[in-house]
Amino acid sequence: MAQPKTPTNPSPSSRPTHPKKPPRKAGHRPAKPAPKRATQPEQENRADTPDEQPIWRRHVFVCTSGSWCPAVDGDGLGVHARLKQLVAEAGLKATTRVNHSGCFDQCGHGPMVVVYPENVWYWGVQPEDVDEIVSEHLIGGRPVERLRYRNTPGKHKLPRDEHDRPIGRPQRKKTAADATL
Ligand code: FES
Repeated sequence: MAQPKTPTNPSPSSRPTHPKKPPRKAGHRPAKPAPKRATQPEQENRADTPDEQPIWRRHVFVCTSGSWCPAVDGDGLGVHARLKQLVAEAGLKATTRVNHSGCFDQCGHGPMVVVYPENVWYWGVQPEDVDEIVSEHLIGGRPVERLRYRNTPGKHKLPRDEHDRPIGRPQRKKTAADATL
């Protein structure tokens, strides 16, 4: 009875060859892999937090790590600390988040505070202004007009004089109570 033939390694010349990759053009980089797409469970998790139920009812950002707001143009760190304290005392901690923020590129107008989702900006905020922001805006829903900051979109850093004072910083409008003094 004939024995089955034991397969032998084909000689290099008889091995199947793979088609050669086309040569890479100079300066041509291979395409990056497509960004990762959300997997099914991730998409399901998103559905648990629909737009109608924001994770925070309000988000308050205070410029505390820019070069000017935290301690040069005012007391941004004190504003942040006072906000944290009063938000907690008002029982708003479950719905209102107060966060440190870096520079908003509005240097010279600070200390700066921003409240979302209303997109209300406050300028020149001092710790003693925080009680009014909390009672009027965060509790009452009425932004504090005397502290509001409005400007055109984009960066608005003020130049500085030789003493690092911002040049062109607007004057705070007097309140009705101040005007009677
Ligand atoms: S340092 Fe506060 S806005 Fe730039």
